[in-house]
Amino acid sequence: MKKESLHTLHGGDLDEISRIYGIDKGNILNFSGNVNPLGLPLSVKKAITEHPDAAVNYPDVSYMELRRAIGEYTGTDFEHIVVGNGSTELISLFIKLISPKKAVIVSPAYSEYLNEIKLSGGEAELFPLKDEEEFILNTDRLMSALTEDTDLLVICNPNNPTGTYIDCDHIRRLLERCAKTGTYVMLDETYVEFSDRERKVSAIPLVKEFGSLFVIRGTSKFFACPGLRLGYGVCSDENILNSINKMKDPWSVNIFAEIAGRTMFADKEYIEKTLELTGRERKRMYKALKDFKNIHVYESQSNFFLCKIKKEDITSTQIFEELIKDNILIRDASDFPYLGSRYLRFCILDEKSNTLLLNSLKKCLD
Ligand SMILES: Cc1ncc(COP(=O)(O)O)c(C=O)c1O
Repeated sequence: MKKESLHTLHGGDLDEISRIYGIDKGNILNFSGNVNPLGLPLSVKKAITEHPDAAVNYPDVSYMELRRAIGEYTGTDFEHIVVGNGSTELISLFIKLISPKKAVIVSPAYSEYLNEIKLSGGEAELFPLKDEEEFILNTDRLMSALTEDTDLLVICNPNNPTGTYIDCDHIRRLLERCAKTGTYVMLDETYVEFSDRERKVSAIPLVKEFGSLFVIRGTSKFFACPGLRLGYGVCSDENILNSINKMKDPWSVNIFAEIAGRTMFADKEYIEKTLELTGRERKRMYKALKDFKNIHVYESQSNFFLCKIKKEDITSTQIFEELIKDNILIRDASDFPYLGSRYLRFCILDEKSNTLLLNSLKKCLD
């Protein structure tokens, strides 16, 4: 792979970065993957290591216990839950199922939505979040962009890479509008658990009311387990759930991911610790970044920040190259639609690492 295209890799591609830059994978401070710095919950480590022989059996094909655990965690009926091999499998299956001729994707956003829509033979219109609106979704403007022939609306909430969010009341208005045009809504809530609880970001409470809503969640980021591959979808339309279950490999969630899932959702201590760390460091980093004269930071309800470099003579790629010399890996966000050569994204790690990043950034920009 060419070095020039490395800065914009998926956050998880540590192996590629390590090969090209000659840095030991274990020594990279990864601010690019958006993964919880607390690491895999101890309860999950214990549950997996205590049951190595689980591998001799197939997982329960209906994933009953896992779905019940997710139901309890999300306050939903377990019958409305479908599990998948990471949220990625569910994004792909839902798009294949709907096969939209015309989709609208609120952008800049995670690239897999557009890839999957193109693969399924459809077309997508990108609805721009605007820098001058701090990348906050303007619901009225979006509603006027939806037409009778829009079959699918895709929103990531909170959004990757902007960190911005819309609340449940705005989502309700969009769903009411989409019900009139027969538009399905796919909401990717991969980062929702990092948001402040009082913000009411998640649309899961709306699932029962709106059958055309498919909410997707993952565990990779919040529970720090991208290698396990566990995600889930919540939807109240039985036909959609049945079709997805028919389309997917029956055991696409392996037995260790199943054991992990049954454990992690009940680990209240880990969940509280994560919320405390993310909330505290999000406030501290935001305040510090606000004081940087050469950076604009956008307010985030996720575990990462998008920033814009205000200095004319330096690009995000150059910052990436400077930071990687200190083994600090960030995401050069220049390849996202509507962003450009001055946007960076980095996630919240532990306090010490975050301070290191802030100091290195300051050094590059002053
Ligand atoms: C918005 C968003 N959705 C989905 C994914 C994929 O996550 P998973 O590991 O659950 O497939 C990512 C990964 O970066 C993401 O940022």
